[in-house]
Order: sequence, then C-alpha cells, then structure tokens
Amino acid sequence: MLISKAKNQETIMGFSFSNSTIENLKNQINIIDVVGRVVPLKRAGSNYKGVCPFHNEKTPSFVVSEQKQIFTCFGCGATGDAIEFAKRYYNLDFSEAVEKLAGEYGISLEKNTFHDNREIYYKVNKLAANFFYKAFTEKANKGYAYMKRRDISPAILKKFGIGYADAQWDSLYKYLLSQGVDKKIMLELGLVSESKGKYYDKFRNRVIFPIINTSGKVIGFGGRAIDAEDNPKYLNSAESKIFQKKYNLYGLNISRQSVGKEGFIILVEGYMDTIALYQSGIENVAASLGTALTENQAKLIKRYTKDVILSYDADGAGRAAALRGLDILRKEECKVKVLHVTDGKDPDEYIKKNGKQAFLKLVENALPYGDYKLESAKKGFDLSKDEDKIDYIKKATDIIRQLSPVEQEIYIKKTAKDLKIAEGAIRMELLGNDSTEKASFTPVREEKEEVLNSEITPIERTLLKVMLTDESYISRISDFPQILESDFAIKIFEILKEEYLKNQFIDLNKIMDGLTSEGAACLQEIVDDVIVGGNEEQVFNDCIRTWKDKNLAKEEQRLISLLSMADEEDNQERIRELTDQLMKVQKERKTNSRGI
Ligand code: UTP
Ligand code: MN
Repeated sequence: MLISKAKNQETIMGFSFSNSTIENLKNQINIIDVVGRVVPLKRAGSNYKGVCPFHNEKTPSFVVSEQKQIFTCFGCGATGDAIEFAKRYYNLDFSEAVEKLAGEYGISLEKNTFHDNREIYYKVNKLAANFFYKAFTEKANKGYAYMKRRDISPAILKKFGIGYADAQWDSLYKYLLSQGVDKKIMLELGLVSESKGKYYDKFRNRVIFPIINTSGKVIGFGGRAIDAEDNPKYLNSAESKIFQKKYNLYGLNISRQSVGKEGFIILVEGYMDTIALYQSGIENVAASLGTALTENQAKLIKRYTKDVILSYDADGAGRAAALRGLDILRKEECKVKVLHVTDGKDPDEYIKKNGKQAFLKLVENALPYGDYKLESAKKGFDLSKDEDKIDYIKKATDIIRQLSPVEQEIYIKKTAKDLKIAEGAIRMELLGNDSTEKASFTPVREEKEEVLNSEITPIERTLLKVMLTDESYISRISDFPQILESDFAIKIFEILKEEYLKNQFIDLNKIMDGLTSEGAACLQEIVDDVIVGGNEEQVFNDCIRTWKDKNLAKEEQRLISLLSMADEEDNQERIRELTDQLMKVQKERKTNSRGI
C-alpha cells in the first residue's frame, strides 16, 4: 500500500507532500469521522459498520476500523486509509484528497515545491553515480584495487553500483558542467563545495557506495577513504530534500525481494557489512547507515517484514545501538532479536573468516528481546555476590515488568533458574513495586497516545467528551471513583464539575482559562477530535466496561501470581482459596464483557 502511495506522489501534478507531512496528517485525522460524515456508521464490536458507498448493497458489509484507521468492504473489496476513502468518494487525485482532508481539519500542509524539480535532482545524482561507476570499471584505479583487496567480487560490485571518485579536485564538477547541470543543484546535493568562487568535488580518492531508495532512485552517496590517513573514514552526502538518512536503509533496494522470501531482515551497521553478507549468500540484509535506528526506518522495514535481527558491531557502541534499536522496533510492534558476532568486530569480518553457515548458526541463536535485555542488564554485576544479585534482580524485574503477561511468566521462570532463586522472590519483587503502574505492559498504541496527550488515556478522553456533550454524565461518573487516573483528566474534570455546579452550564472558555496552555491544547484536541456522535449512552457504557475489564484483568493477573507462589510452596489450602477467588474474577470478567 505504501508503495502505491509513493507512486501516487510522483504522478500528481506540479507538487507533492513529503512522507512526514502525509504521516502527520494521518496521525491527526480519524477515519471514523471522515467516513462517518457521508456514510452512516454503527458501532459493531471494536469496528464500525455501514452500507458501502462504492457498490450497491442493502445489508452493510462496509467495515471501518478505528484502531487500524482503514476501511474495507467485504462485498466489493474496496479498501484503504482515510486518504484513499476521500480519493474514491469525492473522485479526487491523491494531492486533492490530502488538501481536502487537511482543509477540513485545519491542518497546514507544507507543500513540497521542491518536488517540481525533484526529478532533476535524481537525474543529477544518477549522472554522478554513472560517472563514479565508469571511473571504477573502465581503467585500473585505486578504488577497484581496494575493493578487490576486500574480496568483493565483480558481480557484487556491479550489483551495488560501486564507484570510484578520483583524487583530482574537480573531475565530477567538470563532468556535470559538461552535461549542463546547474552549479546550484550540485551544491544542494552536496556533490561539490564552493570556496572563493571555485568549485571542488566533495568526494575525492574514495570508493563510492551509491545509496538507492526502494523506488530505485539514487538519493545520495557514501564514500570510503582508500588511504588510511584520510578522514573521515566514510564521507556521506549531506542531507538534502532527496536524501534523509533517517528515512532510508542502505541496500534495501536490492535486498527487499529476499527479505520477503526469507520472512525476516538482518540489520547491520555498515555498507561493507551489507555487501559482505549479501555476497556470502545472506541476501536479506540492510544497513542503518551508521546512525541509531529511527522510528521511520522501523516503519520502512515493516513494509516488508516484522521479523528483525539486529546484527550490530561487537563493540560497546554496537551494543548500545542494539539496545536502542530493540526498543524502537518493539514500539513498532516488530519481533526483534539480537546477534553479536563472536569472532571479529563486525558481520563483515565474521563472515569472511567463518562463512555463511556459521553466520546462520548465529542467526539461529540470536537472543530475543527479553533475553537480550536481561543479559545486557547483567553488565557490571558479579552475580556470585549476594549484594550484586539483589541489585540485578531489581533491574531484571524492571525489565520483566515491561513485557506482556505471557512473556512475564517465561522470564520469571528463566531468571529464577538462572540466578538459582525461587520464582516467588521475583514475583514478590514484581508485585512489590506495583505502584509504578505506568511502567507495566501496555499495548504500544496506547503508549503513543499517552506521550502525545500528556498521559491522558483514550478512555479518559472519551469520557471527558461525553461529559462535555451531555452534562448529566458529570454526576453519573461519580459512581465510578478512580476511573479518571491521569492528573490531566482529573484536573479538567474538577474544573468542569465546579463550573457546572455553579452555573448549570459549561463554558468551554472558562474551563480553558483554568488550565495550563498544554492542558488547554489537550482539551481542545478532545473537543475537536473525539467523536461521540449522538451515542453518548453507548459510548459511556463502553468506557465503563473497558475500565472495569482492565481492573478485573489486573486482579486476575495478581491472583495468578499469588497462585503460582502458593503452588511453589505446595500450600493446598491457599491454592483452594485463591482458585475460588480467581474463578469469581474470571466469571465477573465474562459477565462484564457481555455488556452492562
Ligand atoms: P564502521 O566504522 O563500523 O565501518 O562504521 P565499517 O562499516 O565496518 O567499514 P569498514 O569495514 O571499515 O570499511 C559503520 C557505518 O557507519 C557509518 C558508515 O555508514 C559505516 O558503514 N560511518 C562510519 C560514517 O558514516 N562515517 C564514518 O566516518 C564512519
Ligand atoms: Mn567493517
């Protein structure tokens, strides 16, 4: 889908919007609202349902998912996101649909006027890439000799389009000039620099690695020094409108087919790691270009696979990068494992010495998220000493607490075995610090919203909107003390209640006055974006039910922990007692989820 989006962007007339602008827009609009304006929708479980506007039907088979922010018609197969809906429904092209939605939501769009001549920038980079490639292949040169020394075969060099920038000061400059390229464009692409009216090539005496995006466009270059005394070791194109490191991965243009075939991707740090693994027959590989992995790169990976193996350098920097990468990928709901080579400093050195099969063994034994985090946390502790053991357990429980309930069970057992202590001790530690509620496992989506809206939860947002829409809910909510948890929601509610008790009327401006600017912005966002749509009663009940279920689930988890402790102690009486309680809670959960 994203690929077709990229295509859309290129075929539109005159201008386009950057990916981040589109992402930003999509983050701010709600498909339920976009569709709901023109298609009457009814809630059906966690989705909404209506009669499909794209084909003739009587029984509704048109489903809109708020969580996924997509629509799908099970009758005619129409499917897509909010932009796609606007495109089809109003018969617009991509940019018109984007503009319409942005206009309706009052979101300002940064128009990418650069796009008019974007193609020219790609063309110039392509010219440069060809120039470097010719210099590398047509006659003997230091670049080719260097890559030969590093054992890269001609076929692979060709596949990756490796080139050579000679040691002159202006070879590329002169060539591009002869091709009629504007100096300004050369400067903007970081191919040349200017000093006192003279122009110089940026890349000199280097092996050139063209960086090509998944649409096959040359977006930038990396140049490796050939002489040891040349600094920096790698020189990369400056960031430009067409080259943003954080949105790209080196090698993915070549490896993506294989990623699809293998079902996972191996992420490495460097250009040479990518090429060396690829040459050895491990083709599902890409590099994060030496910087810490970004959220955008994680999203890019997710287009192809959710299974990621981080294979960063064995040194401290590589380990730190792996820990950061793990969290970023996990936030994007990827399944991540980490491997560090056991011989040599990086995957390139390892595979050259040990070959493909040995590397695949490492892949097989790569550590999953929890194991890697727990292993890394051991650093600096001498676990033969009791004191260190205690400190480590604290750290380990902090890690375990972040995991899902099933993972928690697994890692409690593992850690207990590993440290030769009772599982109960770890469970106690986990329960003991239960006041740090927020750290406990939450689905990723919720976490993100929390950050955006200063920790106000989706339930709180909805409840506040319900109360703002219909004041009678202000008193009804007091039947459920503690349903509002975040400071923000509580503060807004207090002002709301006070206002209403005083005037029997809610003046939004007055409420805003009582809040910090951040709070006011948050409230405004709730007023604008949370949709209740005349269904206050149902929405209110849904909130209560969800909240109750959350509490019951917590209680259930607590009882399960206690039970497994009692089980360890073989305390039959306690086991019976806890089992009774657990059954009661589970029954209550069932009744609750069937509706109030
Ligand atoms: P490394 O220093 O690990 O280099 O940097 P490498 O990939 O092993 O390269 P060789 O084997 O020595 O040739 C990893 C990556 O960090 C970026 C590059 O993308 C490199 O591939 N890097 C490194 C830079 O951008 N600039 C530098 O000066 C060094
Ligand atoms: Mn290396």
